[in-house]
Amino acid sequence: MAGGIFASVYDWIFSTAWVIESKRNNRKVDVYRKMVWPEIRGKVLEVGPGYAESVRHLAHTTASNGAFVVDPGTIHSYTALEPNPFMYGGLQKNAEDNGFCVTYDTKTTDRGPEAGTRSGRDGAVPFAIVRGTLDDPDNIPQAILDEAPYDTVVTSFSLCTARDPAATVRNIVRLLKPGGAHVFIEHVRQPPPGDPRVLEDNGVNAVLWGKIQDWLTPLWSVIGHGCHLNRCTGETILNTEGWASVDYKSTRPVVDLQSRIMPLSFGKAIKA
Ligand SMILES: C[S@@+](CC[C@H](N)C(=O)[O-])C[C@H]1O[C@@H](n2cnc3c(N)ncnc32)[C@H](O)[C@@H]1O
Repeated sequence: MAGGIFASVYDWIFSTAWVIESKRNNRKVDVYRKMVWPEIRGKVLEVGPGYAESVRHLAHTTASNGAFVVDPGTIHSYTALEPNPFMYGGLQKNAEDNGFCVTYDTKTTDRGPEAGTRSGRDGAVPFAIVRGTLDDPDNIPQAILDEAPYDTVVTSFSLCTARDPAATVRNIVRLLKPGGAHVFIEHVRQPPPGDPRVLEDNGVNAVLWGKIQDWLTPLWSVIGHGCHLNRCTGETILNTEGWASVDYKSTRPVVDLQSRIMPLSFGKAIKA
């Protein structure tokens, strides 16, 4: 009971902080998101969508009422698998602002079907909010399995927080169609000096900053809701079985001091 209350308070604190922090993060990372987001299409699952920051860069079109909305020709459905219920308000609002028609999975969330808009404009793309994660292969919500297989699975700054990132990626492979794509952007441990995947080196001392990331991570993960600064997420994806190809780039941006401890990897992995 006390543990449940503590977990809820912890979730609430992070959801409140992320309202501000996500805007700051977007300003730094949107340029890289835009490089890979055009790959997102078809039946889509996003793991850890937070406030749906990802949907702003999906393919959009102009609806008959003049609104600029997500393109139903490119995005057929969107399932948002989010463990933190304090994010659902912002998640629903951002999805609706982008023309989606929102519903909640009543088995995993405490919302009834009336919580979503349900009656969106004609032809609005469905957007289902489901509570959970992909950390445990035996505990994937039924609503996620029922919709599988997916054309695209998206992760955007969520594999840093996954309890088991390797298991999460294995489950992503499992849920994708053959030929489907895991499209991702994640902050990572500094890639080693001379890594050919690094687009912008910016003269960063990767060895030193990698060690700083290792030192900071124990404290950072307590403050940052389980976020790890020192995960080699590109390699985790690369080393997961089941891909036909894995193609990603990394960067060491020098926007601010925080960027030194949050270099990025972004790209796509295609299921065999
Ligand atoms: C840093 S936020 C990123 C949110 C959003 N994807 C974005 O790009 O702004 C991390 C997200 O991962 C979610 N998360 C927490 N635990 C998770 C887990 N075990 N697996 C996947 N996502 C998780 C959080 O609730 C949160 O929405």
